[in-house]
Amino acid sequence: MLSSLPALHHALLRWFVAHGRDLPWRHTRDPYHILVAEVMLQQTQVERVVPKYYAFLTAFPDLSALAAAPTAAVIRAWSGLGYNRRAINLQRVARAAVERFGGTLPANLSVLTSLPGIGRYTAAAIACFAFELPVPVVETNIRRVLARLSGRPEPLPEREAWALAAALLPEPAWTWNQALMDLGATICTVRAPRCLICPLRELCPSRGAVRSLAEARPAYASQPFVGSNRWYRGRVIALLRELPPGTTLDLETLGRALRPAYSPADRPWLQQLVAGLAADGLLHLDDETVALP
Ligand code: ADE
Repeated sequence: MLSSLPALHHALLRWFVAHGRDLPWRHTRDPYHILVAEVMLQQTQVERVVPKYYAFLTAFPDLSALAAAPTAAVIRAWSGLGYNRRAINLQRVARAAVERFGGTLPANLSVLTSLPGIGRYTAAAIACFAFELPVPVVETNIRRVLARLSGRPEPLPEREAWALAAALLPEPAWTWNQALMDLGATICTVRAPRCLICPLRELCPSRGAVRSLAEARPAYASQPFVGSNRWYRGRVIALLRELPPGTTLDLETLGRALRPAYSPADRPWLQQLVAGLAADGLLHLDDETVALP
């Protein structure tokens, strides 16, 4: 595959011009907008993110607004996206950006990575998609495409994926990285890759070979199992979100709302559940009551 980099670049970039998705965060270079989009997209599908992206930016138009908002308002705005901890992290990034950079994000990969709540992926995405820096970006779609293009088993180890992404990177990196993502999301999918219409089929050692291997794997479970810890965590935040701002809830009521057959024997379980959420900054825990922070 590496034998013909120019052919690879040409084929994918040409495909992207014709078939790339028109997504709202591709019309901006505002680093805050990119940050919000990328954090939302990490664990939520594009179609669900689009309306939430607009609503979130309307509620919190810039880093300073997000930093100054009550955390409860940020958690409410996150409703429907899942993985509520991301809302807390996003506000942490905003507060650090206000404190350290006067409410802007730096155009520097390692400085971005030093912000709390910004991992390697998010830093790379901001550097590339906002500042158009020539850096590789690796998320699940790109990692899968790279594994298949290089004929390696999936999943490709993180470190190798980043190294390969760097080795392949052409200019403009912005277009290349978005194109790789779109190929992974629409053609080179997990379960039934559409090799017959793939723009890279002539160059790909895995063409036609992926299907049986991928089908053996279960679909990615984006919804938590009912009754799992993650499910209960989501339920607690969803319940608190429905209350008027400022309302507190006593533990007994919360327990009964979560489990119809709630009894005093469930108390240690409930205590542990809310303590975990409090430790993540998702709720405020007083002796006997909880509230959004
Ligand atoms: N998933 C993560 N980042 C994305 C982006 N910028 N466009 C489309 N899907 C994505």
